[in-house]
Amino acid sequence: MSDHLLRTDRFPRASAYHPDWLRSSVSGGAHSLWMTEWLAELLDLQPGMRVLDLGCGRGASSVFLHREYGVQVWSTDLWFGVDERAARIRDAGVEDAVFPIHADARSLPFARDFFDAVVSVDAYVYFGTDDLYLSYLTRLVRPGGQLGIVGAGLVQELDAGPPEHLRHWWEPSLACLHSADWWRRHWARSGVVDVEHADTLQDGWRLWLQWQYAVAPSNEPEIRALEMDQGRYLGYVRAVARRREATLDDPITSIPVEYITHPLLTDGADARA
Ligand SMILES: C[S@@+](CC[C@H](N)C(=O)[O-])C[C@H]1O[C@@H](n2cnc3c(N)ncnc32)[C@H](O)[C@@H]1O
Repeated sequence: MSDHLLRTDRFPRASAYHPDWLRSSVSGGAHSLWMTEWLAELLDLQPGMRVLDLGCGRGASSVFLHREYGVQVWSTDLWFGVDERAARIRDAGVEDAVFPIHADARSLPFARDFFDAVVSVDAYVYFGTDDLYLSYLTRLVRPGGQLGIVGAGLVQELDAGPPEHLRHWWEPSLACLHSADWWRRHWARSGVVDVEHADTLQDGWRLWLQWQYAVAPSNEPEIRALEMDQGRYLGYVRAVARRREATLDDPITSIPVEYITHPLLTDGADARA
C-alpha cells in the first residue's frame, strides 16, 4: 500500500487524515491538504471567520480548513458536482460550517466585503492570470482581509517555452503555471492589495512526485517530467496579499444606452432608399 506516501512530517495536520479519505477526494494534481496547511501558515485564520475556498474541487480542503482552524467555509467549485461534496461535508460532520456552492469564479454569487479571507488551492491559475480578476475577487473580501493562493507552479519563468526535458509532458494549458515572483508582480501592479508573501516550497517537487506515486503511479509522463526536472522548473508556489482600504468598483455587467435616430449620410439621402 502507498499510504505512507500520503504523509509527511512537513505537514503534521494533513498527515492525520485517513489515506482512504484522501484518495476518495482527489480532485487535482496536488495533495490539497498539504497545500492548504502550507498556505495557512501565512493566514490570520481565527475561529468563526468567513472563508471562501475558491476552486475547492471535491472539498477536502474546505473540511480541513474548518476542522483545523475553526473557520466557516464557502466551499466553491465549478467542475465538480455539489452533491458529492455535500455528502463528504455531511459525513465529516461539518455541515453547519462548510457550505457547498456550485459557481464559476468569474461570476460569484457573494456580497461585497463578505469574506474575511479567500483561499484557492491549486485552482487560481485557471482564472486568476487575467489582469482584471484580482480586483473583481478582492471586492468580496473585507478591507484588511487576506487572499491566499497555493498550488503547482514554476520555480522560474519559462520565457522561451518549456525546456527540452519537459517537452514530452508539456501542453498549451500549462502556460498558466507561474513563479512566485510572477504572482508578486501580477498582484502588486493591480494596486488593490499589498502583497505580503510569495515563495516556493523547498523541495516541493519531491512532494509533488510523492503525491503522483501515491495517487497516479501510472501517470508516467508527469512522473518522468518531475524526475528529470529535479526542481529546476517545477514546484509548489504560494502567494498571500491583503486587501487595501480602497473602495473597489463593481465589474461592468451592462451599460444602459438609448437609441437616438440620426441621418446616416451627410447629404441627407435616406439610407433605406
Ligand atoms: C486542479 S483542480 C484542484 C481542486 C482542489 N482545490 C484540489 O486541490 O484538489 C482545479 C479546480 O479549479 C476549479 N476551477 C477551474 N476553473 C474554475 C472556475 N472558473 N470557477 C470555479 N472553479 C474553477 C475546478 O473546478 C477544479 O476543481
